[in-house]
Amino acid sequence: MSETMRMTSRGRAVLLSAALALTGSPVAGPAAAQGPVRDVARAEAPLRGAFAGDFRVGGTLNLDHVYGRDLAGRALVAHHFNAISPENLLKWEAVEPQPGRFAFEAPDWYVNYGVENGMWVVGHTLVWHSQTPPWVFMGPDGQPASRDTLLARMRSHIRAVVGRYRGRIGGWDVVNEVLDEDGTLRQSPWLRIIGPDYIRLAFQYAHEADPGAELYYNDYSLEMPAKRAGAVRLVRELKAQGVPITGVGLQGHHKMDWPTLEAEDSTINAFAALGMKVMITELDIDVLPRQGFGADVAARGPQGCDCRMNPYVAGLPDSVQQALAKRYADFFALYRRHHGVITRVTFWGVTDRDSWLNDWPVRGRTNHPLLFGWRGETKPAFDAVLRAARPAASSAGGGDADLRSSAWTAAPLQQ
Ligand code: XIL
Repeated sequence: MSETMRMTSRGRAVLLSAALALTGSPVAGPAAAQGPVRDVARAEAPLRGAFAGDFRVGGTLNLDHVYGRDLAGRALVAHHFNAISPENLLKWEAVEPQPGRFAFEAPDWYVNYGVENGMWVVGHTLVWHSQTPPWVFMGPDGQPASRDTLLARMRSHIRAVVGRYRGRIGGWDVVNEVLDEDGTLRQSPWLRIIGPDYIRLAFQYAHEADPGAELYYNDYSLEMPAKRAGAVRLVRELKAQGVPITGVGLQGHHKMDWPTLEAEDSTINAFAALGMKVMITELDIDVLPRQGFGADVAARGPQGCDCRMNPYVAGLPDSVQQALAKRYADFFALYRRHHGVITRVTFWGVTDRDSWLNDWPVRGRTNHPLLFGWRGETKPAFDAVLRAARPAASSAGGGDADLRSSAWTAAPLQQ
């Protein structure tokens, strides 16, 4: 996936809140973002409680959460989630931007926050082709690094990062997106320089650094038959070689018409049959048109907006809101049916304002893919997901720990 979209929606959100603070009135920006940001006092049942008997429910933390620039978002995290993932702050380029020079301030805060609040803390991600600085793959002469050099860098990175959070980060996305759509290994610099055993070795190094941590292979579109078949082959091989793999992360970047519930069901079953834990690791549902997809790209926005690729700047029309709610309810009902296998469902972002889908695959759009809207308000999809929970559980507090107290009131770190 593209690495060029970093932080742009976040930047916009920060500017918007800063301007609100200064002027006290809404400023230019997506119409969907205007109006007061929702306060932290929360009346609704926490998601983590609603699914306490089934799986953990998580969201991502970004730098605005870490540095206290988005306290309302942090309040949502504390109230609803018992698992957290780092959206960008543990990726290689963030944590080791220069050789051997580690930037642990934001990750330390992230991990402490999760541990102090009894949450399951996820590490994302160790070995990926994206958001990895170019120096990692370069030799001294500007040529590609040798196999030995790259292996040494991989090992020292994994040792440093996994070792630092040993016993506190519960599970790591050890390798991310290693397959192509046809199920063969992705032609990444990792594969080209090291060869296919880079995957096995990454797991081995991670296991050495924290023998207690769960270790995952994470990828998108595993619902596509060819890619899924490749992933099944890969997991089988790794298991046959005795690689300490615990689970498979299905990213869950869904669309309104893809994947089908049947495909999702078969995908979960395929990995469960291999003895894997399955996690939905980056859940969102894209409501915007994609280039080259379907006839409904011509859908017009509620105020006669002619921007065919960005039709919901002013908000989501009720019909789409209801369709999104149904889609979410269907997925959660399915995930619940697999509750012994699915151990966690994590949303990629907290509110719609946070979502990377505002900038991918088209920059600067207004998307609505999550359960909390641009101002942090609960959407019909939130209520639908709660209704999909066990009836008796939906009003319970639940979760790994009592998170109602001071989770988000701790003094924020200053940058
Ligand atoms: C995304 C982030 O959300 C963006 O802020 C960043 O610009 C690009 O990466 N699959 C993954 C995630 O594994 O790490 C990606 O996160 C989304 C796709």
